[in-house]
Amino acid sequence: MDVTFQNLQKSFDGRKVLDIEQGLIKSGSRTAIIGPNGAGKSTLLRIIAGLEQADSGALSYGDSATFPRMDITMVFQKPYLISTTVEKNIAYPMKLRGYDPAVIERRTNELMEELNLTGLRKQKAWKLSGGETQKAALARALSFQPKLLLLDEPTANIDPSTTAEIEKMLLSIGAAKDDTTTTRSAKEGSPKAGAPKDMKESGASKNKQTSGQKEMPDAGQKGAQGAGQGTTIVLITHNLAQAKRVCDEVMMLHEGKLVEAGPCEKILLDPQMQETRRFVEGELLI
Ligand SMILES: Nc1ncnc2c1ncn2[C@@H]1O[C@H](COP(=O)(O)OP(=O)(O)O)[C@@H](O)[C@H]1O
Ligand SMILES: [Mg+2]
Repeated sequence: MDVTFQNLQKSFDGRKVLDIEQGLIKSGSRTAIIGPNGAGKSTLLRIIAGLEQADSGALSYGDSATFPRMDITMVFQKPYLISTTVEKNIAYPMKLRGYDPAVIERRTNELMEELNLTGLRKQKAWKLSGGETQKAALARALSFQPKLLLLDEPTANIDPSTTAEIEKMLLSIGAAKDDTTTTRSAKEGSPKAGAPKDMKESGASKNKQTSGQKEMPDAGQKGAQGAGQGTTIVLITHNLAQAKRVCDEVMMLHEGKLVEAGPCEKILLDPQMQETRRFVEGELLI
């Protein structure tokens, strides 16, 4: 799902913290948002997620006429899980969307397997370590195959091996990307123009109708993500090596402005703007 924004502005207590003329997150990309502390990265992501309102400006999501809240999910640096088991946390978004119980069980199992959580399926969320919590939060976020996955420093407090598991998962979603391009237009052409009044209902009924046929055949061959995922990923990270490993596009923010954006290798290896260069070379404080 493309996300475009124009003239986005946001102030807190009379201080402008975001002022972006225009930006584009390309459908199917894995886009890193980088920049020093206080640059406005989280504010931008929260606005995209619909958790924060911009003071002015316009955002659009794919060809959706309304905010597609049933297709978007966000994972925070300190995720909160609901007070129940790991498996019920992962199943929750699918239940909310009216998925078939058999599909819920299958996807929950696949996601737990891919993230090495299977042994913790009955574990209560509050008993998990930080890394396990983050993996469960990621599995929950991926459960319903969101079109837009927003991650705010998901591995900032996580050990290297769990970070590697999370990165592998994000890359596997991207790997399904090419498979999806052919199926996507057919899938995405559906609800829009007639403007469903309630995206929640339309999302739920859409999944109800299609999940049985759509999801089951993918499962055995492609793993939890399967073909047809088509998830666009936006990842805020302080770790430039992680941005390189995981992402194909980069946006550099500084003092609320979108300084530079483009392919990962270009922005990180050959930045055109002084702020980006200083940031990449470690001169601008992280
Ligand atoms: N809810 C808030 N109230 C007041 N100031 C805020 C709030 N959220 C963010 N800010 C300020 O906005 C600026 C940008 O914050 P943020 O988007 O969190 O930056 P980043 O994620 O790049 O570190 C910072 O100066 C921060 O202190
Ligand atoms: Mg932040």
